[in-house]
Amino acid sequence: MNRNEQLSNLYQSFCEAEGSQHIASEYAIEKINGLLDKFRTKKILEVGLGIGSISGTLLAVNRNKPDLNYAGTEANDFCLKALAENLKEDYRQLKIYSDLSDIPVNKEYDLIIIDGKDQNLQAIKGLISKNGILVIEGDRMLQLDLLQELFPDNRYVHCISLKRNREYSPFSAENWQGGVKIIFINSTMKQSLWWFKEKLFTKIKYQYPGRYLGGDVTK
Ligand SMILES: C[S@@+](CC[C@H](N)C(=O)[O-])C[C@H]1O[C@@H](n2cnc3c(N)ncnc32)[C@H](O)[C@@H]1O
Repeated sequence: MNRNEQLSNLYQSFCEAEGSQHIASEYAIEKINGLLDKFRTKKILEVGLGIGSISGTLLAVNRNKPDLNYAGTEANDFCLKALAENLKEDYRQLKIYSDLSDIPVNKEYDLIIIDGKDQNLQAIKGLISKNGILVIEGDRMLQLDLLQELFPDNRYVHCISLKRNREYSPFSAENWQGGVKIIFINSTMKQSLWWFKEKLFTKIKYQYPGRYLGGDVTK
């Protein structure tokens, strides 16, 4: 089984898990995994771990990277229990904080995923590394605005999928898998090149026939 098949199988198991109605899209998880490979990100922080579809999948498909360090925030009791059950052997790799204000200021995280609310989102400024990457799953326009204000020199791209939701996903198979927002807070040359390429892909994908039918392209 190759890594893509492994990712899909893991995603299917999260779709079938209890409480899966708020999980991330498969496209978002694939895209984040691509960022890990491309930019060799080692320290990840996820705001809103939920039942672990992102953290569980990424930790499992990257077991060959022993220096991968994954932390996240979660305060919901059901989700905290589900994380332990769903991540199984990878659970010990996960450091859980109740919210961002609990995490010591360190400027160490090179990838921060936003998939939940936090009253103190601006704390991210003290947590992200110099050339860090922010990923926003789902719509979250207010959080996008706030983060773009916090990092005025950012490069932003909204990557979108041309695939519809899988039959086994908790989302309607008639709708597109949606998109994921990626922000380079202070991009390196390599990040700028990737950003430019993705901007172009997004532009082309928006022209795809039928792309606007049946789905919300802003998600
Ligand atoms: C969009 S969800 C996060 C999903 C998460 N990133 C994942 O991959 O599973 C945002 C927040 O909703 C809450 N949540 C998620 N699933 C839930 C459930 N089944 N029941 C109650 N709260 C839930 C959690 O507090 C979570 O942080």
